[in-house]
Amino acid sequence: MCGIFGYIGKLDADSFLIEGLKNLEYRGYDSAGVAIVDNGKINVVKRAGKVSELKSELLKNKLAGTLGIAHTRWATHGLPTELNAHPHTDIDKKVTLVHNGIIENYLELKKEYNLKVISEADTEVIAALLAKINGKDNLEKLKKTCELLKGSYALAVIFSNEPNIIYLAKKESPLMVGESQDKILISSDANAFRKYCKNFYILKNNEFAKISDKKIEFFNKNKKINKQTNKFLNTFNFQNKNKYLMQDEILQTPDAIRETAQFFENFKDIKNYFKNIDKIYLVACGTAYHSCLFGKKYLDFLNVPIFAEIASEFKYSKPLITKNTLCIFVSQSGETADTISCVKKCKCKTLAITNVPNSSITFACKKTILMKAGWERAVASTKAYSCQLLIFYLLKCLLKEEKPKTKTLVSDAKKYLKTLNIKALALKALSYEKIMFIGRQGDYITAKESALKLKEISYINCIACPSGELKHGTLALVDEKTLVILISTQKSLKVKNDLTKKEIEARGGTCLIASPEEGADIKFPSLSRDLMPIISILPFQALACEVSILKGYNPDKPRNLSKSVTVE
Ligand code: M6R
Repeated sequence: MCGIFGYIGKLDADSFLIEGLKNLEYRGYDSAGVAIVDNGKINVVKRAGKVSELKSELLKNKLAGTLGIAHTRWATHGLPTELNAHPHTDIDKKVTLVHNGIIENYLELKKEYNLKVISEADTEVIAALLAKINGKDNLEKLKKTCELLKGSYALAVIFSNEPNIIYLAKKESPLMVGESQDKILISSDANAFRKYCKNFYILKNNEFAKISDKKIEFFNKNKKINKQTNKFLNTFNFQNKNKYLMQDEILQTPDAIRETAQFFENFKDIKNYFKNIDKIYLVACGTAYHSCLFGKKYLDFLNVPIFAEIASEFKYSKPLITKNTLCIFVSQSGETADTISCVKKCKCKTLAITNVPNSSITFACKKTILMKAGWERAVASTKAYSCQLLIFYLLKCLLKEEKPKTKTLVSDAKKYLKTLNIKALALKALSYEKIMFIGRQGDYITAKESALKLKEISYINCIACPSGELKHGTLALVDEKTLVILISTQKSLKVKNDLTKKEIEARGGTCLIASPEEGADIKFPSLSRDLMPIISILPFQALACEVSILKGYNPDKPRNLSKSVTVE
């Protein structure tokens, strides 16, 4: 949610800033802006819309200068207009800044300090406050201002009286600094500057940085501090071949599975962490929550109570936590605010399952298992979901001391994706007013995830329902304008599922069966019960993507959503 990028170097900053923003666009894409310092003067250009709008403007009217900050926004306070876009400045243009996060007390601060602002954005209040606050130097002013802010922030700031320096501050919102021989780069996601830097610094909560072209200095509230650099983990070179990232990311699933399975070897010690546990809470949001529902199934042999919880609900519940409780937090990005806020409430064993090393969740939890799905940038989570299920399966095997039966999983997945042709189904789906995904047991979880995918990128009103529950109410929705996709992967449930199909057809609805059986409308490969969910989601991810494209949308950037939801 929102991306920050910064550059200090020897070349013009504009192209680095635009490249950085393009890499970060998955975090927000409703408006964007840059501030570039040219001979001591801070020039700001902002545009509503995608980063490409800003890029066109900068191509027409170039901004010179070798130091700059930039931002791509996902609107929280105020519409996605040019006025509300970042960078924000105070009325006298003493301070120019970009911000990720949310300032909860911005209205109180505005009133208390009588701040003059012209936009609806909470961020502008920070700029106005920073310009007003007294301090012996800019660092002290920044520290004092941050003490007054309630909420979350990653800030990159340029003061007009010190235009060769970028100041940073961080609390609950990620911020990193990358260093190469001739440039320093700043970003809210280290992947955005990975191409240029081998090493990078990660700011922790309540840390600050002062960066010039000569040096990077770090501070906490009281003093200057030394920080260790971090190295990027080696990653497999995931191929991008298609127009949309989501198409690529679905096709990358087999490689993501292989990489994740190999990397899991590094986390075998986690077995000890499961000793003497009295119960497990699995906590996450959206797609990651669906993987938790499967996690509960994979781990149920442990014979301890297991609860899968939606993070934004869990936060307000009263979990029965003891020192022997294990809370597992699943998050592709590792930055989801709802999920991270739950970690704080769990004074017990905590384990993160995430795709992003050094993400906030890895610092919040006591233990981490990393997936290796590769950078996932399309808003709709795809390959990471399959890897989350795989991790739960591998955990099951580890704890049961069984050898994972994954030998042919990668080739099976590759073969399956090669033969999968979803276009006809997508065209058919478009001719219905309502779409339902139904299934029993694990297939119901796949139905939930399939419905979420279709909703979020094609905006079709679509629900998931347990097959057996249909007749208890939801069947009332079924008519000739309804397409029902019945997921049926277990032989033992076939008879019941065939009955459900008849019920739907008797009401005029169309029911397509998705199963490994010959003649199925949507055919899965034959796989064990444990491995099936890792693959059975693929046709529905592809369906959602295809429908979105057929409707003329960009599946990578659905309306109203952002990849990494860093606000609660
Ligand atoms: O990064 P996370 O796994 O924590 O994200 C959780 C959800 O926001 C995410 O899965 C969301 O539901 C996706 N857009 C689904 O495709």
